[in-house]
Amino acid sequence: MTQKLKRNSTTPTEFVEIDPSAGGFQNHHEYMDGAFPPSVRPALWRNRDVRAALEEMKNDDQWDGNTRYISLKGMDSDYNSTIPTMWVTVHLLKPGDCIEMHRHTPGSVYHVMEGTGYSTINEYRVDWEGGDTFSCPSHSYHEHWNTGDTDALMWTVQDLPIYSYFRMATFQPGDSEIEAVLHKPIVKPEANKFSGA
Ligand SMILES: [Fe+2]
Repeated sequence: MTQKLKRNSTTPTEFVEIDPSAGGFQNHHEYMDGAFPPSVRPALWRNRDVRAALEEMKNDDQWDGNTRYISLKGMDSDYNSTIPTMWVTVHLLKPGDCIEMHRHTPGSVYHVMEGTGYSTINEYRVDWEGGDTFSCPSHSYHEHWNTGDTDALMWTVQDLPIYSYFRMATFQPGDSEIEAVLHKPIVKPEANKFSGA
């Protein structure tokens, strides 16, 4: 049976006019000209370079377990992603470090390059060690802990660029009631405001 969603907001009393320049027309040739973006080049990120960058971050106090990662950027891809549909990062967790509980609309696959620890994914717990691969489905609460005596290196891939494309990327810390939409708001011109009936 389909679940019905409750409407939880009321009709606004003040509206903003549609900007006439927001919509346009194009003929067949114009459409075809812009419909397909250029192909992207293959790229290579060397293990030694990734590790050197992470080692440098280890000595910089501005990074903690949540933020100490290298993002592999495909220079031809949009949204700072690795390829147009995937975002790859390599995280370094020091012994005792964690990536705190949170959730987001994109799903993830993790590959533990080295180290030992565990992750929770909703009501599930995954104990991992070097060489293991596990997944975290879209919109699941998750956290990651390094419980070993050595650094843990985790390679992750997310389908975040797809959510970015649809303007549906969200992020919610585990201790917050607010699920934040990550996209920049539309600028609403105040001058065009008018009152609805
Ligand atoms: Fe996450």
